[in-house]
Amino acid sequence: MSSKSTLFVANWKMNGTPSDLKEINKVADFLKKKFNKFLKIVIYCPPIPLLTYFSKKKLSSSIKFGAQNVSSTNIDYGAKTGSLSPKLLQKCGAEYVIIGHSERRFKGESFSEIKKKINTSLNSNLKIILCIGETFKQKKNNKSLAILKMQITKSLSMHQNLSNVIVAYEPIWSIGTGVVADQAYLNKIFNFLNIFLKKKYKIRNPKILYGGSVNHSNIKDLRLIYHCSGYLVGGASLKAKNFIEIIVNYYN
Ligand code: 13P
Repeated sequence: MSSKSTLFVANWKMNGTPSDLKEINKVADFLKKKFNKFLKIVIYCPPIPLLTYFSKKKLSSSIKFGAQNVSSTNIDYGAKTGSLSPKLLQKCGAEYVIIGHSERRFKGESFSEIKKKINTSLNSNLKIILCIGETFKQKKNNKSLAILKMQITKSLSMHQNLSNVIVAYEPIWSIGTGVVADQAYLNKIFNFLNIFLKKKYKIRNPKILYGGSVNHSNIKDLRLIYHCSGYLVGGASLKAKNFIEIIVNYYN
């Protein structure tokens, strides 16, 4: 339900160029001037070269940055060609990191790697956004809850400080398709996740995001999902106009 501290996370995936700083500037201006009655948190997760460049600019205290991937090794620096040190990500401006996105899992990222990535990130005080979600076939076969439970169980360790964990529920069949599940289905999923994270992992107030084809018109329905702390937005986060419309329609 509508909350004053709802998170709006922009996953730019492999999109954007340095000149898109203007898009983030527009969102920063909007947050400062037009919308100051709410505590808004917008988290931009652009590709790494842009993260480093954008985060150096003085924007707005409501705008935070995150990465889209991190190394699974438990060393901060070393002979790991192509790997992303969590410590370096922080120095480059990241406070958050997206882990386990289905687009990476399709490319072979395993849950044991995801678990290691979560460990190294939490040890470096990065907040993590763990992506989970079922395929259409799994949904059709009534397997969604079992799949989500399995994905969380394989990713999170009990002994960690889980207050820095955000779970993003992204049904795979909704990503980039324009198709969004109905309200009853989403409420069932979020209710399950909320109870599961509370009971099994003792997370007092689990933060659970929705992701998958979020746009300025469906946000009016998506804002009604129970226990939803915010949104992970792909395509509609690239242009400031679309992203701002999502935030405006969420609150109006
Ligand atoms: P779209 O909003 O483009 O469907 O992408 C969702 C997503 O994958 C965010 O992580």
